[in-house]
Amino acid sequence: MKKIIITGILCLLVVAYIFAQAKKQPLAQASIKRGQKVFESTCIVCHQKNGGGVPRLNPPLIKTKYVLGDKSQLVQIVLKGLNQPIEIEGETYNNVMPSFAQLTDEQIADVLTYVRNSFGNKASAVTPALVKAERAKTQ
Ligand code: HEC
Repeated sequence: MKKIIITGILCLLVVAYIFAQAKKQPLAQASIKRGQKVFESTCIVCHQKNGGGVPRLNPPLIKTKYVLGDKSQLVQIVLKGLNQPIEIEGETYNNVMPSFAQLTDEQIADVLTYVRNSFGNKASAVTPALVKAERAKTQ
């Protein structure tokens, strides 16, 4: 009897987990789709369609520590821009990236979720709530 109850509980947990995952996926997919549009209208001129950037001018967005790393720092880069020498795969970049604080919290979350899941990148989604919290820090 005890075994049956434990097995029953385990089954329920597995089912609940599968449902939670299934619910999460389409949300991220929708965000990635919207993010692609933001990328194409806002970031593509410098970082290029394939995220490869432009040698010595605009860094690539492919598996860099900024793209895959700390999400708060990544959000800050979009909110404030970046103007300091950075090194990516032995190449130094020191051009200016302007601020994109004019984008909405959702647009920034979407574009970063798109970038973190494109060009060979695979990482968790960025939420509008995180962008909102990071924006509050800059004001
Ligand atoms: C006008 C050109 C330009 C545009 C537009 C632009 N960037 Fe950048 N971006 C740069 C430059 C230049 C750097 C490096 C800045 C430095 O060296 O201080 C950079 C750096 C970055 C970095 C950190 C370094 C790396 O490659 O991982 C990320 C992430 C990034 N940009 C994302 C974006 C996103 C997302 C957008 C669109 C919302 C965007 N950028 C729009 C020029 C641009």
